[in-house]
Amino acid sequence: MRYCIAPSILAADFGAIADAVRQAEAAGAGAIHVDVMDGHFVPDISLGRQMVERLRLAATLPLDVHLMVSNPERHVESFVRAGASTVTVHYEAVRDVEDLTRLLIAIRSGGARSGIALKPATDALVLEPVWSHLDQVLVMTVEPGYSGQAFMPEMLTKVQTVAAQAAARGVTVAVDGGIDERTIARCAQAGATFFVAGSSVYSPRRTVAVGMTALQAALALA
Ligand code: DX5
Ligand code: ZN
Repeated sequence: MRYCIAPSILAADFGAIADAVRQAEAAGAGAIHVDVMDGHFVPDISLGRQMVERLRLAATLPLDVHLMVSNPERHVESFVRAGASTVTVHYEAVRDVEDLTRLLIAIRSGGARSGIALKPATDALVLEPVWSHLDQVLVMTVEPGYSGQAFMPEMLTKVQTVAAQAAARGVTVAVDGGIDERTIARCAQAGATFFVAGSSVYSPRRTVAVGMTALQAALALA
């Protein structure tokens, strides 16, 4: 399939997390997105390495781990070992290009795919020196930190800019934040192929199957 929808486990019921994974898999998800927050890079604390290990046992799909943490160099290797398929670090959490390059190399040499996430205020130009070390770019379409925020349409031009460079290099363009059946097609038209979806999939208002079908239907029209 050309497109991948990755439900964000942050929005699921943590009391029934294995069910949440199974429901996403049954509904056609392509990956499970795991938001790791440290209470420093972002205000909240979410989940950590042990949860990734548990999810690895519960899931057959790839685990797409999004590290919203300061000092990511202290953590990437343990998340790779815990079973992450992709480890994404925030550009804003890294000191300089040398450190960033080292991190991306460490992720790949552990056997995972390497990713960089860009906060809304961060320009796509920062990717210039590290394209050759990258497998995925995660364009944040909200401020990182919480599920359930409104999509920022002004991020679509950044998605286009990143996609124009990523295509020839075989790098995946992902979007994260406020992705629902109203916004997913706009992101696809701008060049994204990987869609993180939290509250539009895990919602008290509808089942995972209904949420996924709505996203897939919107994508089919993109
Ligand atoms: C936000 C997280 C997202 C979040 C998405 O900081 O990175 O992955 O779970 O949730 P929604 O889709 O509800 O915006
Ligand atoms: Zn995320």
